[in-house]
Amino acid sequence: MSGSWGNVFWSMPKSLEQICAALKVNAHFRQPMRRLTSLRIGGEIACVAYPDTPEKAAALVRALRENNVPWSPLGYGTNLLAADGPLERVAISLRALATPVRFDGLRVTVPAGYSLPRLVNQCAERGLSGLEGLAPIPGSVGGAVKMNAGAHGYEIADVIVAVDVVRDGQLVALPREALHFAYRQSPFTTQDLILSTTLQLRSGNAGTSRAEIAEYRRRRAATQPVNANSAGCMFKNPRPDLAAGRIIDELGMKGESIGGATISPVHANFIVTDGKARTADVLALIERIRERVREVHGIELELEVEVWE
Ligand code: EPU
Repeated sequence: MSGSWGNVFWSMPKSLEQICAALKVNAHFRQPMRRLTSLRIGGEIACVAYPDTPEKAAALVRALRENNVPWSPLGYGTNLLAADGPLERVAISLRALATPVRFDGLRVTVPAGYSLPRLVNQCAERGLSGLEGLAPIPGSVGGAVKMNAGAHGYEIADVIVAVDVVRDGQLVALPREALHFAYRQSPFTTQDLILSTTLQLRSGNAGTSRAEIAEYRRRRAATQPVNANSAGCMFKNPRPDLAAGRIIDELGMKGESIGGATISPVHANFIVTDGKARTADVLALIERIRERVREVHGIELELEVEVWE
């Protein structure tokens, strides 16, 4: 984004306030991204908007487009790397979306701002099976759909039957047949605002699901730095039989640091940050890892995390 354009943006904060006020969308201005991301880093963002209905979300997207204001969907910030400088954009959070979770037989329709672990637990308690492996993933349902989140052999795409989304400013209901998912990949772009999804589950047993979830949580706590600030795995696995974590570990890079960013000694595909870390530190460490992996293996590691520059 050019500097001069950025100045125009910053010189007109009122118009952004006016847009949100006119649409009755609650908004917080100039928010530090370190409070909105699990890596606890990143600069100040111009605005975080919290529409509370799908219609307001769509109207907000249209208004931002009309005013040439860049925007991005914001989930729980658990897979997000936000630049250090001022971020001249609006983050649209769906945490305030008032749509309830609806259970209907083996199906559940859930708003994007809902917590994935909470959903998994609720389904398990109702004897609905099919999400157990996703219980330890600390993100929003919308974020999970966007990246086709997965763990322990589960992928959310396996149970998706429909997704409601704001696309080109319009509310659109997409059936599963219209959606192609792959490993950590969905058909949604950064300009689609996922509003809700309907999942098709199986009839299960609450006790069995509870035990399975407890086992996945135990495994995660044993193999991943769950108490550190991180964004989960930084890179996608290059192949199903080749884990990025193993490659980085075998290169002896665990514990390497740049500034306040460190390759986790627990799991090499995690970068963890301390209180002094800057996003530039994490980006530099990412580049160092990529270079080494390219040099030694000829493999181009692809980022799993989303980057806001
Ligand atoms: N390994 C090492 N050293 C390490 C880390 C892993 O040698 O530092 C080895 C392990 O011993 C194992 C293999 O690499 O043989 C795979 O490791 P792990 O079982 O931890 O799984 P992963 O492929 O590294 C994937 C997902 C995780 C998910 C786990 C559990 C990706 C990029 N990561 O990790 O998802 O939690 O499986 O199912 O697909 C995430 O998406 O953010 C994430 C953490």
